[in-house]
Amino acid sequence: MPVSRLDQILSRYGYCSRSEAAGLVRAGRVTIHGAPAKARDQKVDVGAVNVDGKAIECPEGLLALLHKPAGYVCSHDPQDGATIYELLPAQWLRRNPPVTTIGRLDKDTTGVLLVTDVGALVQRWTSPKHKVPKIYEVTVDRDLDPALVGLFAAGTLQLKEEEKPCKPARLEIVDERRALLELTEGMYHQVKRMFASQGWNVTQLHRSRFGELGLADLKPGEWRLLPFSQSMDSKTSDDFH
Ligand code: URA
Repeated sequence: MPVSRLDQILSRYGYCSRSEAAGLVRAGRVTIHGAPAKARDQKVDVGAVNVDGKAIECPEGLLALLHKPAGYVCSHDPQDGATIYELLPAQWLRRNPPVTTIGRLDKDTTGVLLVTDVGALVQRWTSPKHKVPKIYEVTVDRDLDPALVGLFAAGTLQLKEEEKPCKPARLEIVDERRALLELTEGMYHQVKRMFASQGWNVTQLHRSRFGELGLADLKPGEWRLLPFSQSMDSKTSDDFH
């Protein structure tokens, strides 16, 4: 693991600001290889640092899965309303860089939302090049027409103000007003706009999978950390179920 100044480590991982680091050291809350840290500017291996008896959290980078409840926006600005960041540990937001969402869900959409402090992961999981499949459970306001299956699969549906048509998407009709839609891209409000373009309003939207990742037993508002070491492989890790 990399060697850095202790105060840089403590601020990078959200324990305190660099100027507050001396206070933590003086208070005896920081140990290096089990011995009390001496000074905020000592050079240390991040893997050797404990704060309040615990190792530094996610030193390689943080990746977590949140079960997003309805009513929360994917914004860092509290003026936009209740934000999903209120549901996460405050220390994650003090990391530098802070955690951010991998893509966004609308305020009323529920389900799988990934958060990370690693920019390369955001790229990896949102880039159309990687075609990470996302599954949405969709409820609409009137009975579905099986013709939508072929239309969405064709890869020809052109949404207003988009340069390119939607990529082929798999629609499975579950019952009269409910369907599963699998997308490999993420245009703005894409699910709602795809249905609206054909005259259906989406009344409920829930993302049940992102790549191989599902909610398992997470309740709305709960999160779980994911093993970071395998997170660049967005499709094959069994640990992600
Ligand atoms: N598509 C939408 O329309 N809304 C979401 O929140 C996600 C996908």
